[in-house]
Amino acid sequence: MKVAKLTILELRNRKGPGSLVMLTAYDYPTAKLAAESGVDVILVGDSLGMVVLGYESTVPVTLDEMLYHTKAARRGAPEVHLVADLPYLSDATPERALASAERLIKEGGADSVKLEGAKLEVVRSLVAAGVPVLGHVGLTPQTASSLGGYKVQGRSTAAAKKLLEDALALQDAGVWGVVLEMVPEQLAALISEQLSVPTIGIGAGGGTDGQVLVFHDLIGVFDRFKPRFVKRYLEGGELIRQAIIAYAADVRSGSFPSGEHSYQMDAGELEGLYGKG
Ligand code: KIV
Repeated sequence: MKVAKLTILELRNRKGPGSLVMLTAYDYPTAKLAAESGVDVILVGDSLGMVVLGYESTVPVTLDEMLYHTKAARRGAPEVHLVADLPYLSDATPERALASAERLIKEGGADSVKLEGAKLEVVRSLVAAGVPVLGHVGLTPQTASSLGGYKVQGRSTAAAKKLLEDALALQDAGVWGVVLEMVPEQLAALISEQLSVPTIGIGAGGGTDGQVLVFHDLIGVFDRFKPRFVKRYLEGGELIRQAIIAYAADVRSGSFPSGEHSYQMDAGELEGLYGKG
C-alpha cells in the first residue's frame, strides 16, 4: 500500500477519531514495513533509547543517536511524513532547539520535530524559522521523574485544566498537532474537541484524532514493562526466541546448513583441487 507523503496542511486537517495513524520506527526495515503498511506518520521517537539501545529511560539519548536512527528510518520510508524527537535538553533554549532541528531535518531527512512539554518560546522560534513542530503533553518521559514516574497525568480538575491550557497554548504557538500521553480518556476527548489541530493519543483513549504506538510494544519484543495502554498485535519476542532456539539446535545437530543452503564446485574444478587435473 503506497500513500503520498502528507503535507503539514493535510496533517492539520486530520480531525476526528481514527484520522491519523502514527507508529515509531528507528531503522530501515521497520520504516519500510510501516510505509508499505500505510501508516500516515512515522515517529523516530527517543523511546529508541529504551527499546533499542537498552537505556533505563529516554534521558541519555543524544542528538547524534537520534540523527543516526532518523537517517536509517528515512532511507526505509522516503515517502512518509517523518517526525524526529528532540532529545532531552537538545531543546532547552530556542537557539539549541533550532540547531538540533536543523541537524535532524537537513542531515537526518526529518519533516518535523517533536518536543515534550509546553516550551512555548522554543516552539514559537522553531515555527518562525519554518520548522514544523509536533507538541507532546501529559506524561512526558524525558521529565517523568519530576512528574512522579510513569503515571497518568491530568486526573484532578486542576491538573486537567492545566493540560488543556498547555495544549491550547502549544496550538497558539504554531504546532501542527499535539501528542497526548497517558491522560484520562475524558480529558483527551475534551482537549481534542477544543483544539483545531489533531491530537495523537498514546494511553489517552479513543477520543483523540490519531493514535501512536511504539513499534516494539506493538510486536511484543519489549518486555521490561507493559503499560496498560499497549496492545500487542504479535508475541514477537516469543516467536523470535523460538526461531533462535531452532537455529542453535540445527547447528548443533548438523542439520543446518544442508545442501540447499550450500554452494558446490564443478566436478572438474574439484578434481583439480585434489591434484588429479
Ligand atoms: O519517543 C516516543 O516514542 C514517543 C511516543 C511514545 C509518543 O514520544
